[in-house]
Amino acid sequence: MKVLEDKVALVTGSGRGIGRATALLLAEHGAHVVVNDLDHDAANEVAGSLATEGAVHAGDLTKPGVPDELVQTAIDRWGKLDIIVNNAGYTIDGVVHKMTDEAFQRMLDIHLIVPFRIVRAAAPYLREPAKAERERGEEVFRKIVNVTSIAGTMGGAGQANYAAAKAGLVGLTKTLAKEWGQFKINVNAVAFGWVNTRLTASQDEDNVIEIDGERVRLGVPEQLRQTVPGLAPLGRGATPEEAAGGIFLLCSPWANFIHGQVLNVTGGQAVGMG
Ligand SMILES: NC(=O)c1ccc[n+]([C@@H]2O[C@H](COP(=O)([O-])OP(=O)(O)OC[C@H]3O[C@@H](n4cnc5c(N)ncnc54)[C@H](O)[C@@H]3O)[C@@H](O)[C@H]2O)c1
Repeated sequence: MKVLEDKVALVTGSGRGIGRATALLLAEHGAHVVVNDLDHDAANEVAGSLATEGAVHAGDLTKPGVPDELVQTAIDRWGKLDIIVNNAGYTIDGVVHKMTDEAFQRMLDIHLIVPFRIVRAAAPYLREPAKAERERGEEVFRKIVNVTSIAGTMGGAGQANYAAAKAGLVGLTKTLAKEWGQFKINVNAVAFGWVNTRLTASQDEDNVIEIDGERVRLGVPEQLRQTVPGLAPLGRGATPEEAAGGIFLLCSPWANFIHGQVLNVTGGQAVGMG
């Protein structure tokens, strides 16, 4: 029997990058995964590559009601939910003195408000079964893993909006851990350093995320790309698969007593970005 056999997981932003690697890894170890992404084609491609039967939910999670629809996708298909990975995100970098209200708000929306709305929508499906299990004297662990960044825990020049949202996510994580520990719902965060995805790729013209027809530029200045990955004692950035390993650990039964923590998956990097 595989370690996550019969578990149902949802992974936001799993059409590419770290989310994609996480969805594949969870499925490889037996979980059914709801693949969510803004990008329909990417989500369909990942769902078709899973080792188990999966489901697709394509949609922009920052739109009202969409987080609820995502949770409902898992419930409609499998009638339950065991694992939530709040991973979807992007960046709108800029220095504070030039940052617009909109750029700040959008980072709060995707990195903080969306995880809040997802866990709130999932609450009945996580808490009610746990109450019944408690009545029967059973313990069944469920998992929430929130993807944060060392920009959130240590700061990141040019990322006040992103860092503030990711720091807020740590507060949400620790509070939920206190509220839902009694239901054996483990709530933890993973703080990544440099991971090789399009967020840390070159700032080429075609390195963009398309949101409602708008092209938002992604990537990191070349000078930082040359220097920051080398700050880690391991001497390079992580692959998406290595990053997914940290998330998977917290979704596994071996992490049942790890609760309310922020796990640094940074190759040992102990300073912030930029
Ligand atoms: N790459 C890094 O170095 C790094 C470091 C620290 C934290 N992170 C975090 O890891 C997470 C994954 O990032 P990644 O590097 O894999 O980037 P990525 O761009 O490869 O993947 C992110 C995915 O999220 C999706 N997404 C974005 N907004 C969405 C929305 N509103 N609704 C649904 N899907 C949406 C995108 O379409 C994309 O497929 C993000 O939360 C990011 O902030 C990344």
